[in-house]
Amino acid sequence: MNLDIWTNVDHFFEQELLDADPILDEVLARCAQAGLPPHNVSPCQGQFLRLITMLSGARRVLEIGTLGGYSTIWFARALPRNGRVVTIEYAAAHAAVAKANFRLAGVADRVQLLQGDAQVELRRLIDQKTEPFDLVFIDADKPSNPAYLDLCLRLSRPGTAVIADNVVREGAVANAAAADAKVAGVRAYCRQLKSRGLISTGLQTVGMKGYDGFALSIVR
Ligand code: SAH
Ligand code: DHB
Ligand code: MG
Repeated sequence: MNLDIWTNVDHFFEQELLDADPILDEVLARCAQAGLPPHNVSPCQGQFLRLITMLSGARRVLEIGTLGGYSTIWFARALPRNGRVVTIEYAAAHAAVAKANFRLAGVADRVQLLQGDAQVELRRLIDQKTEPFDLVFIDADKPSNPAYLDLCLRLSRPGTAVIADNVVREGAVANAAAADAKVAGVRAYCRQLKSRGLISTGLQTVGMKGYDGFALSIVR
């Protein structure tokens, strides 16, 4: 089992199950041209996020970590006509690429990009008494995951879905002695999901992004 076979299978599912999508291909090409790190979700994972969004009937999505807006576009497209994605990104260069990609994909009218540190922007949304979100995607700096969950719960309602990306980290998450701050952040995030009473599971994934996974939760 290795990345080659996982990548081949990802390409098979992409070819057989996903629609050809020249716009999303161009979005990824622009991200690469701009020198952004390849930390976007894969096409099959994007389709997975779209399916979860549609299954949950979400109208308002909150995303932490925009990068070039690839996952944001999957969410935006899954929403009903009056839907909205609020996405937070602190790197100005990433935000600029994302904004151009939202225009390219025709979703700029339903995406609000908040440029700034995520904890600052989340506190601002709380202070503004923003309407609760139906779905939250946590995909920024992993050591901050516990802080993000705490703030996101104040922007949620019973039934809000919370998804965190990159919680497996090639299996390191199971190692209590891991020195990596990202692993520690994910482990603390999982403990907190349980202590705060969310209904949660971990979903391990393999594919072109290697061995990683999502944590899926619903706020009780
Ligand atoms: N969701 C994207 C990938 C996000 S990569 C996709 O799948 O297409 C993580 C992003 O989080 C990076 O662009 C990084 O700049 C941003 N980020 C990291 N720390 C942050 C912070 N404290 N506040 C806001 N954004 C942050
Ligand atoms: C990293 C971050 C991500 O959000 C991702 O999907 C892949 C990798 C990283 O920081 O290495
Ligand atoms: Mg990620």
